[in-house]
Amino acid sequence: MADSRPIGVFDSGLGGLTVAKALRSLLPNESIVYFGDTARVPYGNKSSELIKEYSLEIADFLMKHDAKLIVVACNTASALALDELQQHCTIPVIGVINPGAAEAVKTTRNNHIGIIGTVATISSKAYEKAMEDLNAEIQTSSHACPLLVPLAEEGWLEGEVTNSIVNHYLSPLNNNKIDTLILGCTHYPLLKDVIANQVNDETILIDSASAVARAVKKNLLDTNQLNDMDEKGRLTCFVTDIPMRFEDVGQRFLGSPMDHVQTVHDI
Ligand code: DGL
Repeated sequence: MADSRPIGVFDSGLGGLTVAKALRSLLPNESIVYFGDTARVPYGNKSSELIKEYSLEIADFLMKHDAKLIVVACNTASALALDELQQHCTIPVIGVINPGAAEAVKTTRNNHIGIIGTVATISSKAYEKAMEDLNAEIQTSSHACPLLVPLAEEGWLEGEVTNSIVNHYLSPLNNNKIDTLILGCTHYPLLKDVIANQVNDETILIDSASAVARAVKKNLLDTNQLNDMDEKGRLTCFVTDIPMRFEDVGQRFLGSPMDHVQTVHDI
């Protein structure tokens, strides 16, 4: 059976396009409705009450657009609002924390895993809890890296300033001898090269985007909701501010130009 309804994906802004990219590569037939809350980004330094309120509003928007499943492509919203979203929604909701945590637990050799993310994600300890459920032996070291989001958005993906900021954030984790590092924020995959240069040699970086895409595929297969029509899926994007910057910077996150970006004025 072909279920041609779109997959709903949301993020506080354009970072979740890294997840949309992974979805499009694994599930090219699926259409995606992407919502970027560009007027209210960043979520990473907001209270959990606000993050929950915004996330529930967006989930309602995506359900009205006939989504068959929602991917919370934002680490911060996944860390703070996933339970509420799953209780609220009439369709499955998949966050980025559990797939990323599972991948890290599978990858580590010395059971010492580092996590970097926004202030809200790191304070929530959501990754730590998810990994502890999988393996009680895992030790973690985490660090909030609030400057990395603006660096990625501005395209400062290399150079002295970026290297020095990344080094400042990662030094304590390197000292703690992590062998696996979770990139716990949608924006960090863009800084992968700098991050890889600043971690100890054997450290493996975990980018949850492809793990999330696999979790989505499994869910759609299990529920018989894959779109098996032999036709390329569409990507439709909605944002809450004017789309210019989203289209411009978002291309770097998505890996290709985008059209159909529309502004939503009252969500
Ligand atoms: N999308 C957010 C995340 O993955 C980063 C940007 C923000 O702070 O809103 O945590």
